[in-house]
Amino acid sequence: MPLFKTIQANENTIVYVWKIEEVVDELRDNIHLNERSISRIEKMKSELHQRGFLSVRYLLKEAGYSDDELFYTSDGKPHLKDGNHISITHSYTFSAIIVSTTQVGIDMEMNREKIKRIAHKFVDSENDFLVEENLIEQLTVIWGAKESLFKIHPDGGLLFREHLPIESFKLTDTKTKGWIKKDNYYENYDIFFEQIENFTLVYAMN
Ligand SMILES: CC(C)(COP(=O)(O)OP(=O)(O)OC[C@H]1O[C@@H](n2cnc3c(N)ncnc32)[C@H](O)[C@@H]1OP(=O)(O)O)[C@@H](O)C(=O)NCCC(=O)NCCS
Repeated sequence: MPLFKTIQANENTIVYVWKIEEVVDELRDNIHLNERSISRIEKMKSELHQRGFLSVRYLLKEAGYSDDELFYTSDGKPHLKDGNHISITHSYTFSAIIVSTTQVGIDMEMNREKIKRIAHKFVDSENDFLVEENLIEQLTVIWGAKESLFKIHPDGGLLFREHLPIESFKLTDTKTKGWIKKDNYYENYDIFFEQIENFTLVYAMN
């Protein structure tokens, strides 16, 4: 049951990362699940997805919450009953949550060559600072930052190229800033990122 790491992002914000090495049965047998979660798991076709979803319940437990203290709004956004903010991600063999007293978003993605082919769909002003070396990792940070910001915004309907610009960074910086600029919403967030094995972990907070 490997909790891979925790990151104290600031005094009110903690990130929890799980490396998923357990099979579905092992994860299911050792944790309490509410009716909604049971029904969701049964509808999931892929075992990878089930393991991601279940491992998040272990991260919740690490953060001091049970599955009963988490609920979702109709847009799929997770919330905690005590009013703290939470964001969730799972990708192949890793999952992560971020819990805070303020708005937060998190994303974890495997670094893949394919991201170069789809970069034109989500990269706009960021083209100005991209360099050829470690391009996959840079693009994955930008993607993860925009997904994290998307998870923060209350209404969705955001265009990745237009509404979520990410400020210049080098991979060695491990942080940058990102914006949500849409209609009356005009906020900037601190973006933190790091490489974990062949994955990029990104989280946004303000
Ligand atoms: C919702 C979305 C952000 C999820 O991201 P993902 O990379 O597919 O998956 P992740 O594992 O990182 O995140 C999944 C978690 O996000 C959370 N989530 C789902 N919808 C959400 C929303 N509207 N707001 C915040 N969080 C949300 C859930 O907790 C979910 O996990 P769970 O249901 O198991 O608890 C993504 O599917 C999405 O819609 N992105 C925007 C699409 C888009 O505009 N793309 C254009 C790019 S050019």
